[in-house]
Amino acid sequence: MKIVVFGKGAVGGGLGLLMAGKGHDVSYADARRGIEGAEVKDADMVLLAIPFQGVGTLAASVKGDSPLTGKILMDATNPVKGDWSPETDFGISDEEVKSAGEAVQRFFPDSRVVKVFNTVFADNFKTERLTVGGSKISTFVAGNDPEARGSVVELAKELGFEPVETGELFTARYLEAMAHLNIQLAVKMGRGTDTGFLYFDRNN
Ligand SMILES: NC(=O)c1ccc[n+]([C@@H]2O[C@H](COP(=O)([O-])OP(=O)(O)OC[C@H]3O[C@@H](n4cnc5c(N)ncnc54)[C@H](OP(=O)(O)O)[C@@H]3O)[C@@H](O)[C@H]2O)c1
Repeated sequence: MKIVVFGKGAVGGGLGLLMAGKGHDVSYADARRGIEGAEVKDADMVLLAIPFQGVGTLAASVKGDSPLTGKILMDATNPVKGDWSPETDFGISDEEVKSAGEAVQRFFPDSRVVKVFNTVFADNFKTERLTVGGSKISTFVAGNDPEARGSVVELAKELGFEPVETGELFTARYLEAMAHLNIQLAVKMGRGTDTGFLYFDRNN
């Protein structure tokens, strides 16, 4: 697949290497240059791996028809402030929007937004670190379009994660809360980032 990644930091860089390692055609785009500066037209999937606060600006650079129309837009962002506390301003004046994931869907209404990878610390985006005691690290997958969600589940599986579908995009609220807990444990409680979530389901 052709996958365009906005952001070449810890998350974009790590996931990009994992995806390229599986033979995907990965390229990077600088979100600060706006949507026109990014070659997204031919992309099968696009990954958002920039600070959430930059997403509204990127969306505002779309003039006319969005080149992301119909595309799967993976949202790995977490709404956090500089001091790691939760960002509660989602940049949308609609009280129905209660997560970054839902805000991203509003910013890019013609895209198929799927929240994913946000609950995994970037340190773990390496093949050898995706398993713990024989179990794969969980990544949770939320989105309104079941087909898009399914495609992201397949990608996450291929990369070596244990994907767990959580349903529609409103569940991004829960996934972002998990990320805040992750940060609380890692930063405030001193556990560091070699930590994360393993979901178990004895019946499946
Ligand atoms: N780090 C983690 O463990 C982790 C895990 C899951 C999710 N997340 C989320 O994933 C996203 C990326 O995190 P990260 O750790 O990869 O951050 P990072 O290492 O700081 O990289 C951020 C990337 O976004 C670019 N960027 C910074 N500010 C921007 C802006 N205002 N507009 C557009 N682009 C901007 C940076 O470009 P320059 O280098 O040129 O500044 C860089 O390429 C964040 O939303 C974060 O909350 C992080």
